[in-house]
Amino acid sequence: MDIKNRRKIKLLQPKKSTLYPSKILANDGVNSLNWNDIRYPQFHTFYDKMLSNFWRPEEVKMNKDNLDYKSASKNIQEAYKKGFGNLTAIDVIQTRMAKILSTVITDPSINACYAVAGQQEAVHTQSYSYAILDKLSRSEQNEMLRQAVQDEVAQNRNSLVVKVLEELEDAYRLYILNLMPVEEFAKYLARGLVAMSVLEGVNFYSTFMMFYYIQHRYGILGGSVSIVRYIHKDEFQHTYLNGHTHRALLTDYKLSPEEEQEHIDWSLNFIRENVKREIEYGLDLFTTINVRPSEIETYIHWLGNVRAQSLGLPLPFPDYPYNANENPIPWMKAFDDSRLEAGQKQDFFETTVTQYNQAKAENTEVKVEDLSQLKF
Ligand SMILES: [Fe+2]
Ligand SMILES: [Fe+2]
Repeated sequence: MDIKNRRKIKLLQPKKSTLYPSKILANDGVNSLNWNDIRYPQFHTFYDKMLSNFWRPEEVKMNKDNLDYKSASKNIQEAYKKGFGNLTAIDVIQTRMAKILSTVITDPSINACYAVAGQQEAVHTQSYSYAILDKLSRSEQNEMLRQAVQDEVAQNRNSLVVKVLEELEDAYRLYILNLMPVEEFAKYLARGLVAMSVLEGVNFYSTFMMFYYIQHRYGILGGSVSIVRYIHKDEFQHTYLNGHTHRALLTDYKLSPEEEQEHIDWSLNFIRENVKREIEYGLDLFTTINVRPSEIETYIHWLGNVRAQSLGLPLPFPDYPYNANENPIPWMKAFDDSRLEAGQKQDFFETTVTQYNQAKAENTEVKVEDLSQLKF
């Protein structure tokens, strides 16, 4: 392999006539950025929303939370360790993946969005360490993090997403060494974005649900739940960021009809299998605290449908609720997705590029009064 043949990225290109690359992975623009005039305007909204979410874990007071943890039952302590242990692992993955995306995407506005998303992922990981700082000894903390990754149900849940993201990393290396053409890399990136949408848009959610349940049922761990709420708000944005990057990618790098069908089939099967595994994971997690949540199946299937729509895909579960504005779980209505508006409700693969034009991302926050409607 001759390193001289690597793909060269020109940082500034004064002789070019357009401000931006012609495609999100191309390198044929001057390479500057005017946020008032970007190729895909919805990324401005995602960028603004992510920045307005800015938070630091240290702002959350943990004194009572630490006492709550120490006086909680062994079961709750176990569930806490499993939950935060696994969220840490998947946020570590996302810190890295957001960085790869911000490196490989040459469109400066999308690149900036992933730079901010990556910063948020790093804060998420740090926030779990902050939450356990005075609850567990150093060796217990490390044990918690090891066990969460080694847990068999968690491994089963994480393994499909991890495999696709590892393939994306491998493809990325070949691509930057010019050993893979951009059209080929775009296919790996498209699959990677589906996997990231599942990771951030499905795989966090039964754990979120469990933390809300503990607070509702026992009125404890308010500090940890505040952290979960901050993270929930961020992930909410990331999942739409991934969905729209997937749409932009396939707008710029159009697949042939056969490739398109293959990608749709692969994506829907991937979402279906991951939803199944997330439900198994969630049920296992709730079993730790001796609760069987009757709503988890509906909730996670609905998330699978909503995430597919954000990616521009057809519904993977047409028999389940799919309206993003109508969260099927009453007590979680505060988390309603309200952004699948305009062209977004249509299947991307059946629409023209001109319909792909806008997004509205409203932040919502869980309200304490909504938690009272929690039913299990
Ligand atoms: Fe995260
Ligand atoms: Fe995220």
